[in-house]
Amino acid sequence: MEKPSHVATADGKQASHRIAVVTGGNKGVGLEVCRQLAAQGVTVILTARDEKRGKDAVESICRESNLSNVVFHQLDVRDDSSVAALARHIESRYGELDILVNNAAVVGVAADEEGLKALNLDAETWTSGRAATVLKDVFQNTYEVARDCLDTNYYGCKRVTEALLPLLKLSKSGAKIVNASSLASELKRMPNEELRKDLSNIDIWDEARIEAVLNTFMDDLKNGRLEEAGWPAMLPAYSVSKMVINLYTRILARRYPEMRVNCVRPGFVRTDINWNLGTLTPEQGARGPVMLALLPQDGPTGCYFDQTEMVNVW
Ligand SMILES: NC(=O)c1ccc[n+]([C@@H]2O[C@H](COP(=O)([O-])OP(=O)(O)OC[C@H]3O[C@@H](n4cnc5c(N)ncnc54)[C@H](OP(=O)(O)O)[C@@H]3O)[C@@H](O)[C@H]2O)c1
Repeated sequence: MEKPSHVATADGKQASHRIAVVTGGNKGVGLEVCRQLAAQGVTVILTARDEKRGKDAVESICRESNLSNVVFHQLDVRDDSSVAALARHIESRYGELDILVNNAAVVGVAADEEGLKALNLDAETWTSGRAATVLKDVFQNTYEVARDCLDTNYYGCKRVTEALLPLLKLSKSGAKIVNASSLASELKRMPNEELRKDLSNIDIWDEARIEAVLNTFMDDLKNGRLEEAGWPAMLPAYSVSKMVINLYTRILARRYPEMRVNCVRPGFVRTDINWNLGTLTPEQGARGPVMLALLPQDGPTGCYFDQTEMVNVW
């Protein structure tokens, strides 16, 4: 099916027609990104690993926001065959893709939720990273949970991006890739000085080097050496996954100068990933990713945004 050249937005305006994929679109920030993009006239493929959760999310957007340009497709970012099926579907149905929002992620610790709530942490303590010591009692950094975190947050993003790049290259409006990052990605939070220096030098990085660093991280975790080796104390697997998401964003931006590829911290948003401790609404958290998904073709690329503000974290 060919895409129509124009579509009416919720407020009746005409926008040149674009197709977007959002990963992890069934709840939280991803769900709101889908809603806001659809309200701007973009045809949104809301993806979720669970079919029922995804279809319910599409139905909620259609019902609550009176939008009909959101469709569901199953996508588990950890599953090669699921990723390939999505790429085949987009190719046969639309023939190209304009926007990819890599939003899906997991937090990478096994948490004692009751213990966490009892700590009664304020937002500042949480986001500053200073809570790491008290959180040691309620967070467990198990090998399996950390492995799943890296496989979802970094390898999942890479898997989906690589599968959809051939379709993004065909975008007539100019492809946009938006990768969800986090405050946890800031290099000042990396105690290992040598690695911190390396991470700030984009010229030396490619996917093979990222994989080597992630393997070292997993070895150090297995051998109980995280602290000794200088990995981040607060949410180590999550932090490392987001540090390499920033690198991957810059690698893609350098490799595909015709695209706009950026990463964004949505803010401290009240969602399941932080046990609903966040202070912003998902609607507020979605504004940065949506802004980057709709950048003009001469907009910034290879940059990090804190919500809608460009900042330097490397
Ligand atoms: N909330 C914050 O304060 C905050 C701060 C900084 C960065 N972020 C980033 O913002 C993004 C969205 O997070 P959120 O706050 O909206 O969290 P959330 O409500 O927990 O949503 C995470 C989404 O990722 C999906 N997901 C997890 N594993 C997946 C997989 N293997 N395949 C496909 N989807 C998968 C989840 O699906 P299920 O429902 O099936 O689990 C869910 O839809 C994440 O990248 C997160 O790191 C959030």
